Amino acid sequence: MVTLLENPLRVGLQQDRIPEPQILTIFGASGDLTQRKLVPALYQMKLERRLPPELTIVGVARREWSHDFFREHMREGVEEFGGGLRSEAIWEDFAKGLYYCPGDIDNPESYQTLKTLLAELDEKRGTRGNRVFYLSVAPRFFGEAAQQLGVAGMLNDPKKQRLIIEKPFGKDLTSAQVLNSVVRDVCKESQIYRIDHYLGKETVQNLLVFRFANAIFEPLWNRQFVDHVQITVAETVGLEGRAGYYETAGALRDMVQNHIMQLFCLTAMEAPNALDADSIRNEKVKVLQATRLADLERLDLSAIRGQYTAGWMKGEQVPGYRSEDGASDESTINTYAAIKLYIDNWRWKGVPFYMRTGKRMPKKVTEIAIQFKEVPFLMFQSAAKQANPNVLAMRIQPDEGISLRFDVKTPGNSLRTRSVDMDFRYDAAFGQPSTDAYSRLLVDAMLGDQTLFTRGDEVEASWRILTPLLNVWDSPADPRSIPFYEAGTWGPVEAELLLNRDGHKWRRL
Ligand code: BG6
Repeated sequence: MVTLLENPLRVGLQQDRIPEPQILTIFGASGDLTQRKLVPALYQMKLERRLPPELTIVGVARREWSHDFFREHMREGVEEFGGGLRSEAIWEDFAKGLYYCPGDIDNPESYQTLKTLLAELDEKRGTRGNRVFYLSVAPRFFGEAAQQLGVAGMLNDPKKQRLIIEKPFGKDLTSAQVLNSVVRDVCKESQIYRIDHYLGKETVQNLLVFRFANAIFEPLWNRQFVDHVQITVAETVGLEGRAGYYETAGALRDMVQNHIMQLFCLTAMEAPNALDADSIRNEKVKVLQATRLADLERLDLSAIRGQYTAGWMKGEQVPGYRSEDGASDESTINTYAAIKLYIDNWRWKGVPFYMRTGKRMPKKVTEIAIQFKEVPFLMFQSAAKQANPNVLAMRIQPDEGISLRFDVKTPGNSLRTRSVDMDFRYDAAFGQPSTDAYSRLLVDAMLGDQTLFTRGDEVEASWRILTPLLNVWDSPADPRSIPFYEAGTWGPVEAELLLNRDGHKWRRL
């Protein structure tokens, strides 16, 4: 038996270490992400004593806020989105470490002011020059902010200074390459943390454990036994006031290139040699390099887009995309995208991977389903009058869990069969909510663990797969040519055809 101490694989994906004292500077701190997610996640960790007492957070944004205003705004965020303060004393202690520094992304003076403030805070709070800079600004400013931080000398020390960059990293292959080179000009790859919050989700990390800590699934995890794979990331929300960003992003850039491709990699990659950042990321890059859209000549056979029209969600009428605030009334942006990929390697050659995501779907659900091949010859009478292939479904959210579908004999004299599900549910097994994705990722970045962040070559490999499609979907189209789907439905009918052609169907979730 291998004990933890002997096990060389225990590096990476580490839990429960406390980061060094440091300053986390958030650019774009007046935005939603900071108030709704980042600060509540940090406060939660404070409550759990997973942060160093010296941790200091500096918000940077254009607005002329004071430190106290920022503290108050963050307090409201924790109360409304983070489950409450729980202890006034702990909040007071946490709030003492919150500061605000008004500044402009493109103004070098702002970086000098920030630099002076950070040096003062080092003295005052004992943060020893350790810094994490989090770029939570509009993607078009990522390059500028990184460059300015570099010019101001704030990324000079690879051991003490790190840069977290939100998604989407680039808008296609070329722009991602340019951004990579801009960022690498001012710091080393080991300082860059490209964030994809799906990697912070416990159930996403569990994909590795499930695949590689169990002996019984891996032998079946290949073209010999798997018929096809379906990945679904369905959302009920609509545009949520983000037209400025979404009108040029769409579902393909917003969800597929990053979140879905991460789920895809973890499902399809080979076992890494170890659990450290590079071993895992090498395997992800390898599988991405072997992946392509199903038919590069006929992109309509590889991908379907859609846009929601007005409809009903839980008994309430909701507007169509083009009537949302800020959206163009002739917009052809995709709020739904379904793609079919092939992986040209020994394990997966010929196995289709279907993936879909959409806004205003009937349910919020993220799931990876491995559908196995049918038995070669069916000698029983099935209630469904056909073979029911086994399906292994890994539910990422909500109702996190794993279920395996198989056939059993129905009670009675005849040998009839029916499909049943064997279910594992996280909440029933562990009875505690999983850690918030941002908490996990922020702590990892402060600890200097890059395992759950995307490497530069990985992000480019993912854009390479989708760029042929983006080129077509970005080109001006007749506003009538985009397939529509009513809000509250599972996407355009065309998306059904993508699978029907292969004799498959999307799972009903
Ligand atoms: C974000 C996208 O990255 O992920 C949003 O920009 C989307 O459009 C969100 O709604 C979904 O995240 P989650 O964790 O709710 O599945």
